Amino acid sequence: MPDISVTLGPKGLTLTSPDGEFYLNYCWLRDACSSCIDPQTRERIFDVASLEQLPTAKEAWVDGNFLYVDWAAEDLISKISFSQLNGAEATDPAALPKNLWYGDFLPRIKQFRQSDVLSDDAARAELCRALIEDGISIVTEMDNDDDSLPRLVNAIGPITPSAEGLFFDVQVEIDPTNLAFTAGPLEMHTDLPGEETAPGVQFLHCMANSVEGGLSLFLDGAAAAETLRAEDPDAFDILSTYDIPFFYRHNNWDYRAHQRVIELDTAGRVTGVTISQHLQDNFDLPQHVLDYYYPAFIKFLKLLQEDRFLIRFKSQAGNCVIFDNHRIVHGREGYVADSGKRHMRGCYTDRGALRSTYRVLARKLASQNQSV
Ligand SMILES: [Fe+2]
Repeated sequence: MPDISVTLGPKGLTLTSPDGEFYLNYCWLRDACSSCIDPQTRERIFDVASLEQLPTAKEAWVDGNFLYVDWAAEDLISKISFSQLNGAEATDPAALPKNLWYGDFLPRIKQFRQSDVLSDDAARAELCRALIEDGISIVTEMDNDDDSLPRLVNAIGPITPSAEGLFFDVQVEIDPTNLAFTAGPLEMHTDLPGEETAPGVQFLHCMANSVEGGLSLFLDGAAAAETLRAEDPDAFDILSTYDIPFFYRHNNWDYRAHQRVIELDTAGRVTGVTISQHLQDNFDLPQHVLDYYYPAFIKFLKLLQEDRFLIRFKSQAGNCVIFDNHRIVHGREGYVADSGKRHMRGCYTDRGALRSTYRVLARKLASQNQSV
């Protein structure tokens, strides 16, 4: 550890080393004290608002890999490790960059056998990583029983219910509640944007598929959105600025929510897209905004039909496609209903659960000197 000097200021302290200066706010340092965290629950047990005044240091010094702070108004010396100070402990293994993909991606979709995902931590971690990076993966050789899908989902996260319940069956129904439950084509969409928070990760287990037609369609909505940004920045801006209404309405439910077609994070990066014309409500934006919104919206819809983004394949019985419902846009070609049987069983988990599972597995595998 190089020589590090500490200079106290009114609101924080500065560490000075040959590498430069590093400022740390006192409130942050007080909250970083190891005594703030309960060792059993690992939850925070210190309330910074309980202090009568903002904390200031009486003295602070560096010894080995730790910064020590003696607080002015408390009988407490905090010991804070440098790995915590430099953010190493806060590094998120699940904060993986997106691998944007295009119409040639089909042969590179990562595939995993269900038995491997269920029995091997490394395979399960690789599947989670593929879902975070690529947004899509295929699990093959699924067991053909009623518990097969929940066994797979629960290896990643708890099942998130929707209006349809824990599971939904995509097959022709006599009295369908959704166009998915007909033999007709299904335009490129993300699922259930009428819900306040649309489901995060979708599973579609193909139980049977012997019909003529009915090819599954997928594209990377983040790649399409980035392409729109490059080709028509004004259209990109308007779709990432205004929210539009969606619904999901039938006899026993009436969901309504506003969503942004292109979703950005605080750094302006595309985090996902929301699109579903069959669940789209009448736009309630001011009419003069619609003069600009509709052309941008139509441009993006047309982009989502272009071969440069689309992959098409016939879902095989025994496979389960898993994809990020906030990023991967999916659809289906129509099929001849009486030419055979087509049955997909679906359900959801959320993206937070996926990332949590990946973090736990990454930590476990790292402790065994395995990387993912
Ligand atoms: Fe869908």
